[in-house]
Amino acid sequence: MEKEFLEPTELEDIDSLNEIREENIVILTKNLFKNYEIGDFIVKAVCDVNLKIKERDFIVFKGPSGAGKTTLLNLIGGLDSPNEGTIFSNGVKISDLQEESLSIFRLINTGFVFQNYNLISTLTAEENLMFPMNLAGMTLKEQREKALSLLKKVGLGDRREHLPFQLSAGEQQRVAIARALANDPPIILADEPTANLDKNTSMFIRDLFNDMKKDGKTILIATHDDFLIKLANRIITFEDGKITSEE
Ligand SMILES: Nc1ncnc2c1ncn2[C@@H]1O[C@H](COP(=O)(O)OP(=O)(O)O)[C@@H](O)[C@H]1O
Ligand SMILES: [Mg+2]
Repeated sequence: MEKEFLEPTELEDIDSLNEIREENIVILTKNLFKNYEIGDFIVKAVCDVNLKIKERDFIVFKGPSGAGKTTLLNLIGGLDSPNEGTIFSNGVKISDLQEESLSIFRLINTGFVFQNYNLISTLTAEENLMFPMNLAGMTLKEQREKALSLLKKVGLGDRREHLPFQLSAGEQQRVAIARALANDPPIILADEPTANLDKNTSMFIRDLFNDMKKDGKTILIATHDDFLIKLANRIITFEDGKITSEE
């Protein structure tokens, strides 16, 4: 039998979708909570976070260690799921998706750049890039061409065949950035991408993020790096899982 009335949550979702359409919102979070329970101890890592991120926003998340920045990025990227609240990404309510749909959604919608690069250690630079392209169904020829063009873009066209351990930290992060762009996702999430890098390398990475900004990506970065902060149009500060200020 068909339902005669919509549930309150469904009505809220319709409101959210209208908001998303009218205000060009790419990411919307509503009353987002994430707790970690360790025995009897509960860490409130993300506590009632409400965010509206618009298309082409360049957002920096700041705040002390333990403030919940990584947890929030993981929730927004669909790498982790909230205890409470909703997340819409590109008009899709990802907080409702099961892992299988979520992984497909992540593949084409979101590029991730991590503090520790997270390259697959047994694959070459080129293969690390081809991996997500393969999952997205590109032909081998397309994968090779795209991988080479992205490696050239990050200045590593001649390092295709190299394994991660044969690359410096900065080079590994450049490969990781190229990989994040492999399926040309509209959203880029980066967690302290320059934390372990020297000044010159950080500036090079900054330029790559600036290119992404010009390419029209929506970018969220957790960072304390002044070079990256200068690119932001919104700087949001967190403490104890909550937004404390915005500039
Ligand atoms: N997997 C986990 N298990 C238990 N506690 C966690 C886990 N991940 C993060 N936390 C806790 O959640 C809080 C927020 O952490 P995190 O999101 O990593 O903050 P930030 O990235 O701002 O440093 C911290 O108190 C941290 O100890
Ligand atoms: Mg962190």
